[in-house]
Amino acid sequence: MSEQVIAIDGPAGSGKSSVARALAEALGWSFLDTGAMYRAVTVEAISRCVDLTNERAMGQLAEGLTLATLPRVTVNGRDVQDELRRDDVNEGVSIVAANPLVRAQMVRRQREFAAAQSLGTVVEGRDITTVVFPEATLKVFLTASLEERVRRRSSEGKDSVERRDVADTTREASPLRKADDAFVLDTTGRSVHEAVEEIVQWLKHLTLS
Ligand code: CDP
Repeated sequence: MSEQVIAIDGPAGSGKSSVARALAEALGWSFLDTGAMYRAVTVEAISRCVDLTNERAMGQLAEGLTLATLPRVTVNGRDVQDELRRDDVNEGVSIVAANPLVRAQMVRRQREFAAAQSLGTVVEGRDITTVVFPEATLKVFLTASLEERVRRRSSEGKDSVERRDVADTTREASPLRKADDAFVLDTTGRSVHEAVEEIVQWLKHLTLS
């Protein structure tokens, strides 16, 4: 792999999006929020009344969509950014993300995105360090206490966050787990700035050694 990738995984509310976005900005790299992609597919499926549990129908839908995440999340040109955190999407996204046909389509797009960037890409999600970019320049696993993660996701609620944690770590297809060679960063009580500083230090250390 010639492109530079910083891969970040972690559970809901661990700080992935904020840290990855700020890190990309600090480095002048691109940023990819892969959770937004699974959420966008879910929004589109619900609006087309596709049965989320129908593996083949969902796989076909995911294959045919035009998806963009920047500057806003769009599906076939329709802006769905403000719909991504609806309750029905929080609930449905775990079903969609457990579908291996959907995952294959998302992984393909994620790799194509990184390959098309002239500098590096910071990519965050659940399977980025383990499946999508196992050869990434730097791999980070973000954690935080359940209490703090639930506080950061206050509009979603504790039950939903816990349910997604269980679904994401126990599913068969690419479950969330820490890669053996990932650096672990606990963001409990830490600012985004502090987390970014720490990751930049790791990156410097790796690229100088
Ligand atoms: O922001 P938060 O961590 O709460 O969730 P997200 O990153 O928006 O991801 C939403 C859901 O998409 C997760 O609960 C996973 O089920 C799924 N996901 C995944 O399976 N693989 C990824 N690379 C990213 C997200």
